[in-house]
Amino acid sequence: MAALRTALYRRFRQPLPVSLAAWRFASSSFKAADISVEKNPVLKPKPDPSTLVFGKQFSDHMLTIYWTGKGRWERPQIKPFQNLSLHPASSALHYSVELFEGMKAFRGVDDRVRLFRPMLNMERMYRSAERCCLPLFDQKELLKCIEKLIEVDQEWVPYSSSASLYIRPTFIGVEPSLGVSRSDHALLFVIVGPVGPYFATGAFNPVALLADPRFVRACRGGVGAYKMGGNYGPTIAVQSEALKQGCQQVLWLYGDNEEITEVGTMNLFIYWTNEKGERELVTPPLDGIILPGVTRQSLLDLAREWGEFKVTERTVVMKELLDSLKAGRVLEVFGSGTACVVCPVGSLLYQGQTYQIPTMQNGPELATRFHKELTDIQYGRTQRDWAPVIV
Ligand SMILES: Cc1ncc(COP(=O)(O)O)c(C=O)c1O
Repeated sequence: MAALRTALYRRFRQPLPVSLAAWRFASSSFKAADISVEKNPVLKPKPDPSTLVFGKQFSDHMLTIYWTGKGRWERPQIKPFQNLSLHPASSALHYSVELFEGMKAFRGVDDRVRLFRPMLNMERMYRSAERCCLPLFDQKELLKCIEKLIEVDQEWVPYSSSASLYIRPTFIGVEPSLGVSRSDHALLFVIVGPVGPYFATGAFNPVALLADPRFVRACRGGVGAYKMGGNYGPTIAVQSEALKQGCQQVLWLYGDNEEITEVGTMNLFIYWTNEKGERELVTPPLDGIILPGVTRQSLLDLAREWGEFKVTERTVVMKELLDSLKAGRVLEVFGSGTACVVCPVGSLLYQGQTYQIPTMQNGPELATRFHKELTDIQYGRTQRDWAPVIV
């Protein structure tokens, strides 16, 4: 009896899995059942999927959900796509109290519309909201609201198995005050728009990367693991530098050892024969400076299911990559992300020297296999619970 009492005592002394503050916000979440829909009387013509430019076309409706100063969520609203009206002191504008997500809806070969592992996006968005001190919400309710928006705008999901509907959930602090403090006013909104294939020609175009240790994307103890707008604005100048030097993307290095972290806005994978002579797929670990990509997780899950080569999450430094390249042990290097699924890396520009990566010489066998597996799931050619049908 005493042992049982001690066990129970210990059980209840364990920290709660969520903070009480988180519970308070989550318990007062908005509900998808309360959504109101105001249809747009003027529908725009849908663009030809072959002419789409990323992020420039938007559908006819949007979702907005306000958190008011009274500490509660208002009813979610689907309404005609329109400009926002913000107080000029809004905290998003001054202190980057802003976060977002990037996900897609796909029209399958069976004409049904699917999402891809959407709860992973909802979970990441929730973690970003916690880190931004924005109000919390029930992740499943937000997903249901997004599904409703896509149902309303379903004709905007391209009738093409190389295009998709990009979904941009966004959450901003609209506190009308210049104090650097928690926002009591916030706006969660979702806009969607059709996007074309990342590789317009249909074939992989390998990217050249600028690896310059003077530039850092995120640091330990910082917010690189969260999808906050503040992580992205400052990278534009570095991306422009890469373009000036004839590269398409930046390979983000970190620290005195020049740890390899991410590539542009993608996670990074290296497929090589390691020093022990084993075939291995390596990607940097989720140690706080890397965004936990949904695609990254999916490639790791697939590779572990296949069980054909070693799969490792560990730090790789620049020297190790260059030594392996010189030793001819690197087979493929590629980025992963929602935009492209996988993007082969063709070369690295580091300390004024260009290093060729043999990704394309090798097929690129693994990148192609990952691309096919994931797009088969997304477009309904392979059935898997990763891609729930929503319409
Ligand atoms: C910095 C960064 N890394 C990685 C990714 C890839 O993440 P996901 O696979 O969820 O698109 C993204 C894109 O969201 C990103 O912005």
